Amino acid sequence: MPVSYVYMVRCQGGALYTGWTSDLPRRLAAHQSGKGAKYTRAFGAASLAWAEALPDKSAALRREAAVKKLPKAEKEALAAGFDPARFVLLRPARPADAAQVLQIFDWYVKNSTATFLYESPTEAQQRRAIAAIRRALPFILAQNALGEPLGYACAHPWRYGCDAYAWDTETTIYLAPAARRLGLGSMLYHGLLAALAEQGYRNAYAVLADPNPDSEAFHIAFGFVCEGRQARSGYKNGWQGVSYWLLDLTAPGQRDAAPAAPPAPLPAGRLEEILAAVRLGANWRAVAGR
Ligand SMILES: CC(C)(COP(=O)(O)OP(=O)(O)OC[C@H]1O[C@@H](n2cnc3c(N)ncnc32)[C@H](O)[C@@H]1OP(=O)(O)O)[C@@H](O)C(=O)NCCC(=O)NCCS
Repeated sequence: MPVSYVYMVRCQGGALYTGWTSDLPRRLAAHQSGKGAKYTRAFGAASLAWAEALPDKSAALRREAAVKKLPKAEKEALAAGFDPARFVLLRPARPADAAQVLQIFDWYVKNSTATFLYESPTEAQQRRAIAAIRRALPFILAQNALGEPLGYACAHPWRYGCDAYAWDTETTIYLAPAARRLGLGSMLYHGLLAALAEQGYRNAYAVLADPNPDSEAFHIAFGFVCEGRQARSGYKNGWQGVSYWLLDLTAPGQRDAAPAAPPAPLPAGRLEEILAAVRLGANWRAVAGR
């Protein structure tokens, strides 16, 4: 079950319409184009005034009923405390999200050594990359309630990605600069690591530019351990090093056990369920039973 939302939209005359949905951007667009509820068709939905994430449909229906009964002043108080630019929506990325992914990544290509690339991929290349990753691995996009990209996390095959390396994967995460230090990176990584562990991956590797103190602190907070550093691995604004970090994804007591089978893609809908849980604060270890 994907995360469910209870929301209010502001209508043209100022009235607030309350509803619930599992796809907030699509539902908002439907209201705004006159294809939502009778009420918003009649009065014209202007903008999202408030939203709250709930674990499932029944919790959302209960919350919707409670919000509908609130006096107007209390609804307005909810709306006054809501910032759509900071309200996080998490979902699996689609190839059509390529431009949003590049909007985030390109900043780091041009302004940092967090990536060693000199140029971003083209949109067509990025579309193909998302499609290829999604066939076997998670690719998660975070947007705000205005539909703007806030960050993404994904995984890649490690080395050859098969045979003895089949249980290893490399993680990647980039946030829009303004979205950093708000806990969003953690939310994305909890979703990514839970998905990788459930798929059967045993080792999550992160390769960091050295130095990258923010990313080091972040990976240490998740329990990654540094396994080595190489000086002068890449030349971008001078010679840069890299550091290699490992997180053990195995269940307790299973570190040395032979794997039963190679990692497999998650069943349809499971990544959405994982994202619903981490959106509401769940830890990857609890979600994946680690
Ligand atoms: C690394 C990155 C993803 C972290 O995301 P974030 O949302 O800022 O991190 P969070 O707010 O979830 O922080 C989680 C924990 O990580 C640590 N941490 C993250 N950023 C930190 C920083 N700048 N300084 C110190 N600790 C930091 C802290 O322990 C923090 O816990 P706390 O908030 O309770 O102190 C983000 O800084 C980023 O996108 N950096 C640029 C791109 C990049 O370098 N990607 C990694 C490539 S390998």
